[in-house]
Amino acid sequence: MSSLILITLSILALMVVYLFLRSMLRKEPKTPPPPAQRIIRRVPERRETPEAAPGPESNQAGPVVEEQAVQSGLVAAGEDTLPSSLDWRPIGRAQLEVETVWRLEHALRELQDLGQTPTIHVDFNMEPRELSLVLASNPFYAAKILKTVNSAAFGLRYHIDSLQRAITFLGYNQVKNIVFQHVMSSKMFEVHKKSDYFDLLRFWKHSHAVSVCADFLLREVLRRTQGVGMITTAALMHDIGWVVYSRYDAEKADRLFRRLAGEPDVNNPMLFEEEVFGFNHLVAGRMLAEQWQIPKQICALIGFHHCGTFGLEGGVEQETVFGACVIAKAEELSAEMGYASPLPEPREIRTDLASILGSQVATLPSGSVKLREELTKTMKIIEEFDKPES
Ligand SMILES: [Fe+2]
Ligand SMILES: [Fe+2]
Repeated sequence: MSSLILITLSILALMVVYLFLRSMLRKEPKTPPPPAQRIIRRVPERRETPEAAPGPESNQAGPVVEEQAVQSGLVAAGEDTLPSSLDWRPIGRAQLEVETVWRLEHALRELQDLGQTPTIHVDFNMEPRELSLVLASNPFYAAKILKTVNSAAFGLRYHIDSLQRAITFLGYNQVKNIVFQHVMSSKMFEVHKKSDYFDLLRFWKHSHAVSVCADFLLREVLRRTQGVGMITTAALMHDIGWVVYSRYDAEKADRLFRRLAGEPDVNNPMLFEEEVFGFNHLVAGRMLAEQWQIPKQICALIGFHHCGTFGLEGGVEQETVFGACVIAKAEELSAEMGYASPLPEPREIRTDLASILGSQVATLPSGSVKLREELTKTMKIIEEFDKPES
C-alpha cells in the first residue's frame, strides 16, 4: 500500500516538474532574428598574369584572343572575362536576401501583364526590315507611322503614303523601337507610380539613344550585321529595372530618385540603389525581363549592361560579353551626345572594352555627324509619335 502511495507521489512530483519547466519555456521571450547583414561584395583578388595582359594585337583580335587565352591557360577559366579597376561589384540575384527576393517577385508579378503583349514576343533574330514591318502591321501603328513621317517636324515637300517607304525613311531600328516603346510606355503609364523625380519621357529618350548608338557601333564601326536586332532591343530595354522601384515601394523610390537627382555627380550611384532597396536596377531589370519570358540573351544583356564600369565575371557566353560591351559603349556615346540617363548611372568606363570590341572602338571620335543626325531624327520621331491624337 505504502509503495503504491510512493509511486503515485513520484508520478505527481514528475508531472509538477514537467508543468513547471513547460511554463518556464513558454515565458522565455522570443529572441528576434538577427538583423539582416548587408553583403559587402569585393572582387576577389586577381592573380597578376602579365603575359595575359591585352596588348595592341589582342585589341585588334577582340573576343577570339580572349577565348584563345582562356583555352591556352593564360587566363584561368572562371576569372573575370572583363576585369574592372573598380574593387566593387553590384549585387547579383544569388546574393539577394530572401525577403528582398520575395518582395521583388511580388512587385514583378504586378508588372506581369506588361509582358503579355505580342509585340514583346516577336522574333528579334529577324532582319530589322522584316521586324519593323511586322511591328508596323498593326493598323494603329501603321497610321501613326504615316502621320509621323508626314508631320511638319520632318518638313518633307512630298507626301509619303506607303508604309514601306515611311519605314525606310524613318529607319528600321527607329520604327522597331518606337512601336516597342509605345506598347511598353502606354502600359507602363498604367502601372508606373508617378514620381516628380523620375521623368519617363527622358528615360525613354535615353533608352532610344543607347539603342541608336548600339546600332551605329555595330553597323558603322564594327561592320557587323549578325545579332543587331537582339542587341539593339536589349539596348532599348537596358534600364527597364528602374521602373520596378516604384512598384516595389513608391515612397522609397521617391526617396532614391530625389537623392540621386540631388547628387548628379555621385561616384557610384548604384551604391545608393542598393542602400535604399537592397538590390539594383541591373538585377531588377533582368528578373523583370525573365518574367516576361523574352529571349534569354536579352535578359542577360540587361543584367550586364554596366560591364563598362563593373567588369564581367568569367563563364559568361562570348556573344553576351560582346553584346554587353556594345551596350556599355553605346551608353557612353549617348551621354557624350547629350542623352545621358535622367538619373545618375555608373558612367565611368573602368574596363578595357576595346579588348572585346576591337581597337576601332577605342579610337572612335565622339562627335560623329552621322550619329548626331540619327539621334536628332530619333528624338523628333519620339516627340511626334507620342503626340496625343487630336
Ligand atoms: Fe543602367
Ligand atoms: Fe542607361
